[in-house]
Amino acid sequence: MSVVALVPAAGRGERLGYGMAKALVPVNGVPLLVRAVRGLLDAGCVQHVVVAAPPSDVDAMCTVTASLASAGGAVHVLAGGAERTDSVRLALEYALREIPDTSIVLVHDAARAFTPGAVVRRVVEAVRAGHPAVIPVLPMADTVKQVDADGAVVATPDRAALRIVQTPQGFTADVLLRAHASGVQATDDAGLVERLGVPVTTVEGHANAMKITTPFDLAVAEALLTGGTT
Ligand code: C5P
Repeated sequence: MSVVALVPAAGRGERLGYGMAKALVPVNGVPLLVRAVRGLLDAGCVQHVVVAAPPSDVDAMCTVTASLASAGGAVHVLAGGAERTDSVRLALEYALREIPDTSIVLVHDAARAFTPGAVVRRVVEAVRAGHPAVIPVLPMADTVKQVDADGAVVATPDRAALRIVQTPQGFTADVLLRAHASGVQATDDAGLVERLGVPVTTVEGHANAMKITTPFDLAVAEALLTGGTT
């Protein structure tokens, strides 16, 4: 019974402005991908990590993750797809084909490179406890407005009932496979599971699991490292 983490890392990362795949962008000299994969393996409950790389960066991502396998698990790298959902589906198909005892599957963005091990363990424990789909979340600090195409406000959802969604998201392998069978694109995998009518459970996330998208986020990550809070 293996826990397999799929890491979609095939994005071009244009909003970061580095001219390279976001997952290869270094923070204090260490690429985001290396930090993300190491974090998953160091959590102590993940046996395999499958990385979906930009097709032109498969070799580079193999090279930077090669030394991590000794940290207690295996790392596999394959070419990702055109959209995030395609990258996840390709990595899932690889895991189910090549890792025979895959039972729990996590999906974790390489861009959430500073996710604490405790968050990974909370997600895996909740799936092991019988929840077919589990996501880490945080409460909303800001009020959120729903707007129409012209930017006019149409609704103000109750903030107390809203959550910010992070990764890793955890699933039983069969539920994630069924979710991806639809071929629908989604910004997160739990969204596809919801469409199946399968319940999605939440566990507590962590501020350090923020998604690094912009140069500002990168500066925050560097400050976290300098301040010793990761
Ligand atoms: O672009 P965004 O930050 O939303 O992407 C989220 C994650 O999905 C990133 O880790 C990115 O590398 C990954 N991705 C992917 N394949 C794509 C596009 C994005 O694996 N084709």
